[in-house]
Amino acid sequence: MNSAPIGVFDSGVGGLTVAREIMRQIPNEKIIYFGDTARVPYGSKSKETVTRFSKQIVRFLQTFEVKTIVVACNTASAFALDALEKEIDIPIIGVVKPGAKVATDVTRNGKIGVIATEATIGSRIYSKYIKELNKDVTIYGKACPLFCPLVEEGLWQDPVTDEIAKRYLTELIDIDIDTLILGCTHYPLIRSTVGKIMGEGVTLVNPAYETAKELKELLADNGLLNETPPALGENQYQFYVSDGAEKFKRFANSIIKYGILSAKTINIEEY
Ligand code: DGL
Repeated sequence: MNSAPIGVFDSGVGGLTVAREIMRQIPNEKIIYFGDTARVPYGSKSKETVTRFSKQIVRFLQTFEVKTIVVACNTASAFALDALEKEIDIPIIGVVKPGAKVATDVTRNGKIGVIATEATIGSRIYSKYIKELNKDVTIYGKACPLFCPLVEEGLWQDPVTDEIAKRYLTELIDIDIDTLILGCTHYPLIRSTVGKIMGEGVTLVNPAYETAKELKELLADNGLLNETPPALGENQYQFYVSDGAEKFKRFANSIIKYGILSAKTINIEEY
């Protein structure tokens, strides 16, 4: 079981920021990644739709006998994690709880900002988890729907992104938050832009990093860590998408530096 792969899924390319952290922090692990590129974005869809899609993806990942599943998408973590937990008997974690926990630990003035998709903000999921940990903290959510397309266009450091980020973030600066959760898979890629605008006094929390850290603990606690490095020539990382494998592959290779990655298209509606 320890040598079985970890299943990781997202609505598309964004979850690669989570996969990349897993590769860095637990380099012996094998990963089966699924990006739902045919049905992205999830951030503007309903809870019912995102849950249905997520259940199909989990059924697909289980065909690889994965030992655990990481819901790398914030929107799917917000909408579907509870339903998925009921369906499977292997450990499953999302990206929202680990980010919420660290933000609650690091805030000094009790004012935490969350930037994410419209769906994640609307679900108030970060507020829910943070309030469970500390009811005295106040959470300010801001949907930033233009960030995802800007990141996918490669405009990570660009005056256009600077301008849009200023418009989104000014109200959070005015409220005087001291901690900001990058609550969407794409946002770690524009971390420096966001950091520059928010200023040094604001701690940025990256749920992708925190999730990989928590995953390592979860695997260790369950005796599931893979102690054996991958064999030479072994296909350690496999990527599947529901459409546009070539485009996905280009993006993946621009952010993940662990060999040349390729991707296969599958019909997710069959699961
Ligand atoms: N992966 C999504 C998230 O983290 C962002 C992209 C989308 O809207 O599907 O919420």
